[in-house]
Parts: sequence; structure tokens; C-alpha cells
Amino acid sequence: MEEESSSRSCQGAGSMKWFVGASQLLGVASVVMTGIWMGHYRGGYAWDGTGQEFNVHPLCMVLGMVFLYGDAIMVYRVFRNESKRSVKILHVVLHFLVLFISIIGIVAVFQFHTANRIPHLYSLHAWCGMLTFVLFITQWLLGFLFFLFPGATGWLRGVYLPLHVFFGLVLFALAVATCLLGTVEKLLFSITDTYSLFVPEGVLANCVGLVVVAYGAVVGYVVTRDDYRRPPHPEEEALSVHFKTLTEGGAPSPE
Ligand code: HEM
Repeated sequence: MEEESSSRSCQGAGSMKWFVGASQLLGVASVVMTGIWMGHYRGGYAWDGTGQEFNVHPLCMVLGMVFLYGDAIMVYRVFRNESKRSVKILHVVLHFLVLFISIIGIVAVFQFHTANRIPHLYSLHAWCGMLTFVLFITQWLLGFLFFLFPGATGWLRGVYLPLHVFFGLVLFALAVATCLLGTVEKLLFSITDTYSLFVPEGVLANCVGLVVVAYGAVVGYVVTRDDYRRPPHPEEEALSVHFKTLTEGGAPSPE
């Protein structure tokens, strides 16, 4: 039985590298294309309350909440043969980066609104954006408390893990949807009269949306496919049984 699952997981490893490779091409493309959209068509970047400060927002959000966040949730599949500890550290480091870059992106758009006396949080994009960001912070804090804080027991971690995985994916889907809403909104603000004429800026931004969706779909596929999961590692299993015995006083099961 165990042999069968390990051979299935070896076959899975072969195809996984193609999906992971494709995801990285799509992720980098989404960031570069957003960079070109804001850099070439919208006047570049600055930190001075003008439209150039706004331009920092889409770039940081696509880089942080989509590309790096997607990579952070894929690490347990991509590095499934590395030690759990190293992968956990990579997962946490990537989440730190996501948090840092997203904060810059959110601050940029809030400062731009304040400097130009534009009301805050009036659009569906802004509401979904705030929901995504608050969920991300909550997920981050709970993940820290349950998985890194030494006081949490194995039982508590086991109860929280499915919720962490589920909300992690919901949050990622919400981030992709929020980017689509933001992209349409920005196009309607900046090229209202020419959008329907297939101008290059409109076509480029539409393509950004498609690439972000494709990236989201490939990441979703990699993290939900059963045979891409981490195969059981005997030393980790032994350690966890030992830990269970110590913390809960239970005897290791005979299997
Ligand atoms: C997950 C990614 C994103 C999140 C969490 C997010 C979040 C937000 C938030 C919270 C606001 C409101 C700021 C305020 O009211 O002062 C906002 C505004 C805005 N964002 Fe995003 N954003 C994201 C991605 C994008 C992208 C990719 C674009 C594409 C250009 C974009 C375009 C805009 C625009 C045009 C506004 C100003 C209008 C408005 O308030 O709705 N956003 N964003």
C-alpha cells in the first residue's frame, strides 16, 4: 500500500516540474507586464503623492499578493523531498516578503488617494482588496501562533491545518479576482474613450489579467493534485510519533 502511494508520488514528480516551470513563466510574465503597463504607459514610478505613486500599487500587489504568495503556497509541493523544517522556513520567508511588498503597495494607493482628495474604500475592488489584505494578516498571525509558537500542541496544529490550507487557497483566489477588478477599474479611469478601440495599453492590461488567471489556475492545480503531495518521510513520522507520545502520553500505534 505504502509502496503504491510512493510510486504514484514519484510519477507525479515527473509531470509536476512542467507545471511548476509553466507557473514561474506565467508569474514572471504577469509582474513584467504590469511593470511595463505602469512604467511605459502610465508615466513610471515615484513616491510623491502623484499618479506615479499610484503606479507602485499594481506592481507591488501583483508581485506580492499574486506571484510570491502563489510561490509560497507551492513550496511544500516543489520541495517535497527536502526536510520539513527547511521548507517551513522558506514558506515563512516568502510570506514575510509578501507582507512587506503588499504593505508598500497598499500604502502607495492610500497616500495617492489622500494627496488627491479621493475618497477611500468606495469601490468593489477596494472592498475585496481590504478583505484580501485583512484575511492575509489574520492567516499570517494564526499560522505563526499555531505552527511556529512552541506552546501550540500537536492536536491543536492538526485541528487548525485544514483551515489554514483552505483559507490559504480562498485568499489566493480572492487576490487574483481583486487584481482583475483593479485592472478593469484602472483601464476605465485612464483610457475611458479609447478602451473599445483595442489600443495597445488596453490589450496589454487585458493580457495581464489573463496571465494572472492562468498563473492562479496552474498554482491551484499543483497544490490540489493528490500525487504531488509530500511523500511520507520515515524520520519525520518517527519524530512526530515520539512527540505525540511525549505530549499526549499516548502509545505509538503498532502499524
Ligand atoms: C490583491 C491585489 C490588490 C489589493 C489587495 C488591492 C487593494 C486595494 C485597496 C485596499 C484600494 C483602496 C485604496 C483606498 O481606498 O484608498 C485599492 C485601490 C485601487 N486599486 Fe488595488 N489592489 C490590488 C491590486 C490592484 C491591481 C492589480 C490594480 C490594477 C491596476 C489595482 C488598481 C487599483 C485602483 C485603480 C484603485 C483606486 C480606485 C479604488 O479605490 O478602487 N489594484 N486597491
